[in-house]
Amino acid sequence: MLKFVHLTDLHLSNPAERPDGYDTHATTRRALDHAAEMFPDMDFAVITGDIANWGEAVAYERMEALLRDFPHKTYLMIGNHDNRANFFARFGDRHPYALPYVQYVDDRDGLRLLFLDSQTPGTHGGAFSQDRLDWIAARLAETDREVLLFMHHHPTAIGAPSMDAKGLMNWPAFHEVLRPHARKIRHIFHGHCHTPLAGSVLGIPFTGLRSMGPQAFTDLKIEQACRWVAQPHYGVVLVGPDSVVTHQIEFAYAGPLMVRDRQKFTDFIALCAARGVEVPTEDPAPMDPVR
Ligand SMILES: [Fe+2]
Ligand SMILES: [Fe+2]
Repeated sequence: MLKFVHLTDLHLSNPAERPDGYDTHATTRRALDHAAEMFPDMDFAVITGDIANWGEAVAYERMEALLRDFPHKTYLMIGNHDNRANFFARFGDRHPYALPYVQYVDDRDGLRLLFLDSQTPGTHGGAFSQDRLDWIAARLAETDREVLLFMHHHPTAIGAPSMDAKGLMNWPAFHEVLRPHARKIRHIFHGHCHTPLAGSVLGIPFTGLRSMGPQAFTDLKIEQACRWVAQPHYGVVLVGPDSVVTHQIEFAYAGPLMVRDRQKFTDFIALCAARGVEVPTEDPAPMDPVR
């Protein structure tokens, strides 16, 4: 079983500013501290882009400082808010990049991890240039391993106008690269949408998460960027031989937890009977009284 932490869209800035009114640095620190304490057995963490809000060099300095206190291998990626030059200035030797992109591969734990760079100049949308598409195709073709794929932009249109307007501009070309290898791509993890998402493309499941700053709201009609008050979270991902599961960890929740013993099924039967409902049981009943 592989276990990793997925954070996305940190939107760090300089100490004097709060992007969109959020102390994204404090929230990121809280998320990392929480993850380190709650999941000390994690295999690694991954941050799927938008590390910085305005791409400032100081934002990457602050990222580096946060990681100094985080005792786990952490894969870094960029998004549309990031500045590739400033990222490389701070993290230029951190990963085996396929330059000039923040795109790289790591084979570990029997899997191939593919980290993609979907940033493209001049737009909040993304795109994979032909050289990047060729690189992705080659990395997929050369391995027999199953693949976990990480990217910043959502991997397909999701039917929300405000988010699709800043999605990948060449989804069809990207999908054609994935298509021959779809069966061995176990899962796609992405960011950018600032909302929890689950779906599939070409039969490949994908998962997106909230940000460390503003959270997106959609009713599938709103065309503007729309924010609402929702708590940040991060994901803890469990990868088994036949399953991939993401738990959304509500590290920012400060209210009470209503913990109680699990109800015995025999008590449930009695409660139903008191209301005139007979619960069928098999006889002889190989009954687990709790389950
Ligand atoms: Fe973002
Ligand atoms: Fe983004």
